[in-house]
Amino acid sequence: MMNQKKIAGEKACEWIKDGMIVGLGTGSTVYYTIEKLGDMVAKGLQITGVATSEETAKQAEKLGIPLKSLNDVTEIDVTIDGADEIDADFQGIKGGGGALLREKMVANASLKNIWVVSEEKLVRNLGEFPLPLEVIPFGWKQIQRELEKDDIETNLRKQSSGEVYVTNNGNYILDIVNQTFTDTAMWQEKLAQIPGVVEHGLFLDYVDMIICGKANGEIELIKK
Ligand code: A5P
Repeated sequence: MMNQKKIAGEKACEWIKDGMIVGLGTGSTVYYTIEKLGDMVAKGLQITGVATSEETAKQAEKLGIPLKSLNDVTEIDVTIDGADEIDADFQGIKGGGGALLREKMVANASLKNIWVVSEEKLVRNLGEFPLPLEVIPFGWKQIQRELEKDDIETNLRKQSSGEVYVTNNGNYILDIVNQTFTDTAMWQEKLAQIPGVVEHGLFLDYVDMIICGKANGEIELIKK
């Protein structure tokens, strides 16, 4: 079967030109973008990457893609990243890989955001995929209890070993389950004001173009 993630991920490299500062997302789709960018850099392409996670930084370093920290760039020309779900209004859930905080900071500093996905990520309403909240470990149960009062169910993210999952920023993740996010602006406001929630995985009005890899091998470009 066609590797939908690979065709979408590699296609995004067409938007990367010499001299650009490029935001490098996290996950198994943008992995292919970064691999191909590594080839292009080996053949002479000159870019500077800004990584959204330690995992991505490691991959880029191995491939010889020069990196800068977000602090050391004034803006990013293009960021390429994956997504967990995207609705018909171009709103998305990200953070399945736990990198939502750095991903959102990098997206926010970018002139253009491209998401690379396989077609099952395109949904009518957001919410089948759990919505991650990055929370401060101090008092995380209090956040969970506060959400429970509003019938919002969350699970503390764990690693397969059973240990609590810790983000690159030293925080925990609470995944909101069994919810449908139709009024995304309302949810954004509600979640952002809870003390101890550092970031949520709703990415509203960030993406400019989606590159979607289909099972039949076609690539669809969906522009806002
Ligand atoms: C990382 O935290 C996420 O936001 C990823 O971008 C998202 O989970 C997409 O991952 P895949 O491309 O691996 O499905």
